[in-house]
Amino acid sequence: MSFVKKEVNTTPIEDTVFAIVNKAKEAKAVHGAEHVVDATIGSLYDEEGKLVAFTSVFQPYDQIAKEQKAKYADSFTGNASFRQQVYEWVCQDVNLTLAHSVIATPGGSGAVAITFEDILDMHQTVVLPDIAWGSYALMASMHNLEVRKYTLFDGDHFHMESFKQACRETIEKQDKLLVVINDPCHNPTGYSLTIEEWKEIVAFLNECGEKVPVVLLNDIAYIDYSYDLGNSRCYLECFNDISDSVMAVIAFSCSKTLTSYGLRCGAAVLLAKQAEAVRSVEVVFEKTARATWSNIPNAAMDNFTAVTTVHREEYEREKQQHIDHLKQRSDIFVREANACGLPIYPYKEGFFVTVRVEDNALRDRYHEALMDHLIFTVKVNKGIRVAVCSLPIASCYGLAKRMKDILEGSK
Ligand SMILES: Cc1ncc(COP(=O)(O)O)c(C=O)c1O
Repeated sequence: MSFVKKEVNTTPIEDTVFAIVNKAKEAKAVHGAEHVVDATIGSLYDEEGKLVAFTSVFQPYDQIAKEQKAKYADSFTGNASFRQQVYEWVCQDVNLTLAHSVIATPGGSGAVAITFEDILDMHQTVVLPDIAWGSYALMASMHNLEVRKYTLFDGDHFHMESFKQACRETIEKQDKLLVVINDPCHNPTGYSLTIEEWKEIVAFLNECGEKVPVVLLNDIAYIDYSYDLGNSRCYLECFNDISDSVMAVIAFSCSKTLTSYGLRCGAAVLLAKQAEAVRSVEVVFEKTARATWSNIPNAAMDNFTAVTTVHREEYEREKQQHIDHLKQRSDIFVREANACGLPIYPYKEGFFVTVRVEDNALRDRYHEALMDHLIFTVKVNKGIRVAVCSLPIASCYGLAKRMKDILEGSK
């Protein structure tokens, strides 16, 4: 007997991250924190080992009147000021000539989930990278979608051929193409596509668009931690070249941008050549929003707008200090990895560096061996994720060489 619907995967979530986070905690209690490398936590932590919660974000939040916090949002698609400001923030100086709309969602997760749910029919296939944020596959499974994975890297750059092959195979068997590109600051490898790669992707999706409607889901969760912030949006200009048959949905997350993971706020930015195309998706997204989460926390939306306008200077100054830390941490780890020959995926920027271990059986042995040496990391497909976002600078020194030696010992 089952109380849940038939077509649902009933295997419990295996939360590999939390299990290892706890192991690291236990190891610190037994061996002393100074002897443990804890590279498990995927949120931004400061040099003192504390979760970062920007003062420039939470002071204004605390000053919002309680009635404003208590109130429902203005509409199911979000507050008008928030929708406008998300668009301004996402595009910044880029001159987009496309029709657009913004739908407020509970974090970037909501934007990704709503796109999976409303773009594809049951049992259709979504195209994902083989190394990716785990929730994509879970969301696909919960909406009864199949997954076709492309190999993310060919050496040290994007595997264009594998991407194209995955798309070609998918449009041979179905009347729609939905592809996910998590860029810039890819989770968990820290890769960012070049403008040339983006141009080629857009040109190829236009080709696919000659056969079927195409939706490009660009997950930009970590964009505001780019090392070259001033140019982090430049690639969006390539989107101006999408054809009438292609739509871009940008998944934006206030969780990362504002260090406000618990406030559950984000957005789906819809972009297309034709306003009618945007409207047709907006209508369905709005209904799904109403039917699922109804509306987004009013104060979280208002605070995003205030922080990124009135308080922008303090906010950007505060965030930049942490980007500088992130850069110092990743510079040390990557430089030392290259020096000692620890294989890593092509890191450019972002919260994580990933050690390249393509054989998952070896990866499993390696992960255990690292823990025996009190180095705690998270397993990802074909690799070991090192969360430099939470690893203090001092812990980064010497880590790559230790990891390299343990890798050799695990072979
Ligand atoms: C790649 C990626 N996309 C989206 C998200 C969404 O986060 P949230 O729903 O908190 O905005 C995350 C969070 O970890 C992520 O890593």
